[in-house]
Amino acid sequence: MLSYKHGYHAGNHADVIKHIVLLYLYNIEKKTNKSISYIDTHSGNGIYKYISKYMDKNKEYKDGIKKIQNYKGNNILIKNYLSTITKITGKNNFYPGSPIFISSISSKKDKLFFCELHNNEHNLLKKNLNKYTNIKILNTDGFDYIFNKVNKEKNYFVFIDPSYEIKDDFNKVQLILNNIDNLFSKSKIIIWYPVLDILENDTFLQNIRKKGISNIINVEVPIMKYGDNIGMQGSGLLLINFTNRSIMKNLKEVINEIQNIIKQEENITRSKLRYL
Ligand SMILES: C[S@@+](CC[C@H](N)C(=O)[O-])C[C@H]1O[C@@H](n2cnc3c(N)ncnc32)[C@H](O)[C@@H]1O
Repeated sequence: MLSYKHGYHAGNHADVIKHIVLLYLYNIEKKTNKSISYIDTHSGNGIYKYISKYMDKNKEYKDGIKKIQNYKGNNILIKNYLSTITKITGKNNFYPGSPIFISSISSKKDKLFFCELHNNEHNLLKKNLNKYTNIKILNTDGFDYIFNKVNKEKNYFVFIDPSYEIKDDFNKVQLILNNIDNLFSKSKIIIWYPVLDILENDTFLQNIRKKGISNIINVEVPIMKYGDNIGMQGSGLLLINFTNRSIMKNLKEVINEIQNIIKQEENITRSKLRYL
């Protein structure tokens, strides 16, 4: 039985980066696609209360959303993320998960599929999203789901956010990447990963580079010195089949700005943005 609960980590530095980029890319997709088919393979339960035994335990949100929530700069992606949170939460004291972020900005014509394997989290997600009518919530394995559902005829927007509690999650990600040029060739995919061990991280990225995928952008944001520390030293995203011309410029600006706000040490490696 797996014990990962996103509640312990919600609103941390990795959530901030992934949700800013997710919102940005979904909003771009809305401009050209009147009915988006969206799949969140690892949904979590959608609502994370600050005052709860989970978020209160390690208070990871203090190094994430709390550092950025009073942002006074001009970056439009950060401002949009913060105003979306305010719209969703109102006066309620919680951090939204990816299903609520996307449900709240989706059009009624979009079709949203949320997979969550764990029964309790799945039941909570159903309760937390009950006001949305364009969604389907599935108590199923998100990796299996996309292999059955996605096909090369149709454009899906897929968000893959595993916990990597089991190493096999990294292998499943490689399997998806092996199928980009056939099964997923029309789809846009975002894959999140943690930087836990710098050598393993290098190997992970080198193996991806060797696949020769034609359009894969890698974003990585260190928050502390790689190698000197244990635990999650940063996090990254693989963005596949996103072709909008302004993406690289906008992502570069936003990740540099986020890194400056949420870094936990000085003189760390700069954030990375590149085609793999
Ligand atoms: C990192 S959390 C997701 C956080 C969420 N995407 C967000 O941004 O708010 C990963 C979730 O995936 C669930 N999970 C783990 N393995 C899964 C699988 N194979 N298929 C679907 N859900 C899974 C876990 O129970 C957990 O709730």
